[in-house]
Amino acid sequence: MYRTHTCGELRLENKDTSVTLSGWVQTVRKFGAITFVDIRDRYGITQLLFGEELNKELEENPLGREFVLQATGTVNERSNKNPNIPTGEIEILVSSFSILNKSAVPPFTIQDDTDGGDDLRMKYRYLDLRRNAVKKNLELRYAVGRAARNYLHNQGFLDIETPFLIKSTPEGARDFVVPSRMNPGQFYALPQSPQTFKQLLMVSGYDRYYQIVKCFRDEDLRADRQPEFTQIDCEMAFVQQEDILNMFEGLIKSIFKDVKGIDYNEAVQRMSWEDATWNYGNDKPDIRFEMKVLNLKKPSTVYTNKQDNAGLINGADFKVFDEAETVVAIAVPGCSEYSRKQTDEITEWVKRPQIGMKGLVFIKVNADGTYKSSVDKFYSEERLKAIADAANAKAGDLVLILAGAEERTRKAISELRLEMGKRLGLRKEDEFKLLWVLDFPLFEFALEDQDGGGAGRWVARHHPFTSPKPDHIEMMISNSPKVDDPEKYLEHPYANIKANAYDMVLNGNEIGGGSIRIFQRELQEKMFAALGMDAEEQQHKFGFLLGAFEYGAPPHGGIAFGFDRLCAILGGSESIRDFIAFPKNNSGRDVMLDAPSAIAAKQFDELQIKLDLK
Ligand code: AMO
Repeated sequence: MYRTHTCGELRLENKDTSVTLSGWVQTVRKFGAITFVDIRDRYGITQLLFGEELNKELEENPLGREFVLQATGTVNERSNKNPNIPTGEIEILVSSFSILNKSAVPPFTIQDDTDGGDDLRMKYRYLDLRRNAVKKNLELRYAVGRAARNYLHNQGFLDIETPFLIKSTPEGARDFVVPSRMNPGQFYALPQSPQTFKQLLMVSGYDRYYQIVKCFRDEDLRADRQPEFTQIDCEMAFVQQEDILNMFEGLIKSIFKDVKGIDYNEAVQRMSWEDATWNYGNDKPDIRFEMKVLNLKKPSTVYTNKQDNAGLINGADFKVFDEAETVVAIAVPGCSEYSRKQTDEITEWVKRPQIGMKGLVFIKVNADGTYKSSVDKFYSEERLKAIADAANAKAGDLVLILAGAEERTRKAISELRLEMGKRLGLRKEDEFKLLWVLDFPLFEFALEDQDGGGAGRWVARHHPFTSPKPDHIEMMISNSPKVDDPEKYLEHPYANIKANAYDMVLNGNEIGGGSIRIFQRELQEKMFAALGMDAEEQQHKFGFLLGAFEYGAPPHGGIAFGFDRLCAILGGSESIRDFIAFPKNNSGRDVMLDAPSAIAAKQFDELQIKLDLK
């Protein structure tokens, strides 16, 4: 028997018991004739005491860090207790031990604060996984998965697996492809999501489906993106948007409760896409804090019900504002006393290439009721006050204004808002705020190529199976998708078509997204056509789905949650990598396996493929 207890289990009640522990050597400390060894496993750390009588044996078999050790002895009350660990009141008086395996000196210390850099830790991920910090993340991941399964099981969902070797499912990224040996020259695609399969399952009558499933997307990576990631993927039949929203806020609340002990009793806030982007510059606003955006220019045509605040800045002959497509402001609480150095630093911050602004205008709303601004020359104090009031600035606040092209400027003000929120401590890690963002645009115009399909065309903002709002169908059918001037795509009627689509946002992160689907063949064909697919291409790519829609497809809809993201946020981290046992790095490499890598010439031969790299 290798062990009677784990290294995290023994307490004072076990005093005088004879026990055997097995685990890894964390530290070895010699004090004169006696030696203390901390032994560690998944469950904790226990102190072992090797008395003088074992000295000779220890000298012959010296222990090193990460050796696998088995020790037998008696539980003893420690004279020098350690209140920081659960086993801190006891130690084991070792009577015999055996080294089960030696270890090379690990390349970094296996501790919470390790000295290993990211690359090193990834190369030796199996050692990194021994660290408590990483272990806690994987435990949390397991708990989230279990909570999700419990909830969905109790709601009558069936977990059904779908294949990985498939034909492309478009989710806006490039596919990973797999050559087929048995069908030379032909390729499978790995699923970007099980989207079409879950819809087929609805056609088959499995009206509540879920799966915790891997998805594969060849896209640019960021902290919250991996080329293979996991979704909690769900679909329901005979439902409307409201049914889905209720069911899945139930899921997230249930995960909060089971995993974090949080009773999220308040109703989940809802916001239209128009309101989100208008008021926060972003379709996934962090609503833990206010700092709403003031729009100081005439709304672009996508905003159908927004007010024009241009009067506040017009007529001052200030070219930067006059010539910009978009001028937006936020009031940062309590920062009116920022020094020149501090405002310069924020200006530099917005000028960084990632933000891409040319500059920053500020108005200080001084505590004494006076106003000081970088555009004093153009705006009277009265006008500065009017702008500051409209931005909801109070005495002591600092108004920051950005001007530029629509999308970039909105994105920039959103980033600036998040940055200032962070600096002011308004984005608290242990506060969770859920939000539904609704009524997304159905289409997006690809100014640049996103998925290998080329630039200058309409793409589905969510995916091509998402239904338009019923009263927008006509707008889709009666207008040609052709865009004459890509620069002015926002003026095309397609830019105004809204979808039955929804995202769930948690603390400024998109944790899930879904839609009510198209379930009639005709409308699906129209949708494909709007995306530039002719009948032949539709048949080639999605003939199976169009065919299925002819055999009694029920109305249906669903959602998928980013499982890794949800875990990362619940674990208080921005990076999903820490919550994946074997993640890829930012170039999509597994540095431990050294993958991707070249394959043998024989494999190419079998596949009848000749490599001819450009
Ligand atoms: P969507 O593409 O919005 O929807 O994906 C759902 C959720 O998955 C997460 N996610 C990712 N997480 C990590 N790395 C990535 N590369 C990555 N990409 C997406 C996000 C996102 O909200 N089939 C649809 C769902 C549906 O319509 O039901 C889909 O996949 O948290």
